[in-house]
Amino acid sequence: MSQSLTFVAGPGGAVQGRLRVPGDKSISHRSIMLGSLADGVTEVSGFLDGDDCLATLRAFRAMGVSIEGPDGGRLTIHGVGPRGLRAPAGPLDLGNSGTSMRLMAGLMAGQTFDTVLTGDASLSKRPMRRVTVPLEQMGARIETAAGGTPPLTIHGGANLVGIDYEMPVASAQVKSSLLLAGLYAEGETCVTEPAPTRDHTERMLAGAGYDLRRDGSRVCLRGGGALRAMTIDVPADISSAAFFLVAASITPGADLWLEHVGINPTRTGVIDILRLMGARIELVNEREVGGEPVADIHVGAAPLRGIDIPESLVPLAIDEFPVLFVAAALAEGRTRLTGAAELRVKESDRIAVMADGLRACGVTAAPTDDGIVIDGGDGFAAATVDSHGDHRIAMAFAVAALRSDGPITIRDCDNVNTSFPGFVDACRRIGMNIETD
Ligand code: S3P
Repeated sequence: MSQSLTFVAGPGGAVQGRLRVPGDKSISHRSIMLGSLADGVTEVSGFLDGDDCLATLRAFRAMGVSIEGPDGGRLTIHGVGPRGLRAPAGPLDLGNSGTSMRLMAGLMAGQTFDTVLTGDASLSKRPMRRVTVPLEQMGARIETAAGGTPPLTIHGGANLVGIDYEMPVASAQVKSSLLLAGLYAEGETCVTEPAPTRDHTERMLAGAGYDLRRDGSRVCLRGGGALRAMTIDVPADISSAAFFLVAASITPGADLWLEHVGINPTRTGVIDILRLMGARIELVNEREVGGEPVADIHVGAAPLRGIDIPESLVPLAIDEFPVLFVAAALAEGRTRLTGAAELRVKESDRIAVMADGLRACGVTAAPTDDGIVIDGGDGFAAATVDSHGDHRIAMAFAVAALRSDGPITIRDCDNVNTSFPGFVDACRRIGMNIETD
């Protein structure tokens, strides 16, 4: 077995210059899925060639879609139309990617052939009933492992019917899964969300000319329509930019520009939370690119204060909490997070794993069932922490080292490539001290 990647992040680095972080993961997945289902040739630029999106790409190739690239973030997808996918020769391995599995569960439920969806050790532990239960209400036939986890065996040839579904959890993956199944269902499929979640699927369907009705927290579509091929410009991922928003905020003398970042309002909770903590973040040159809002972001150092994080912001910053905890650990006073039990079922249990890592670095952090309480201080102690194979935990502790009294050694960092290939180079380019081992 190969040795896993270790980061050794050192204190005292600078955070200065300009950076364009890789493309948005959520939008990149959807570009493959909807580009494949469209009639005609979809051109994508800014595609994230991280392991998660490449797993989606391979899955669609395995179902007969011809896709050229990625080449410098460019893809050419020869769409086969909604009924044009072909049975893959074997199971589709989706690696670490929950988005691929949950969205594809809905899509595969509408096909004429059977599919088996598998994943790595982390994905194989993640809950899938949140999609299989409503999909079964639509008439899908899906088998899971005991406990409702992958692999998923999805039987083709089901006659799907639209449902009107109220989601118990605020999840863009569940919403998207049902909308994709709804493309194949008789009648109307409606999904109501308990709180706003990322709406990239809806925006891209609308961009493909699909008729979609949005009314407050409810979105509906009718099955049987066609999708037009598109030109998709994927903005830089705000979830990747988030590491540098915090890095600059906590580093004396920092001055950083992050270019062409997606600022879809369903994704900007991290900016709102950091601003509530006192961060100096400026959005410049706001524009719309292919149906998604984009801006350049200017950020500098600022004294941070602890806050009670408003629960309404939790789904809008759901992937950014590992690095927000790092900010909280350097803020004056106490930060409390509640209403975030979902963090326990991400690529790792992000509440437990972050609490362990923060404590190893000398921070007072108390996990709760649905959040954490962190008492801010002056800095981190040198330590070794385990990312548990979770990309966002690994990157969060690399940022923490900017304010540590010695190196922070971070174990199990290979999965940083799932969302942020080139992370170490990006850190070095702006002056952070990070080595790999
Ligand atoms: C995603 C939705 C979120 C997020 C994930 C990507 C998506 O998951 O955590 O990284 O692309 O739809 P949930 O829908 O489970 O909140």
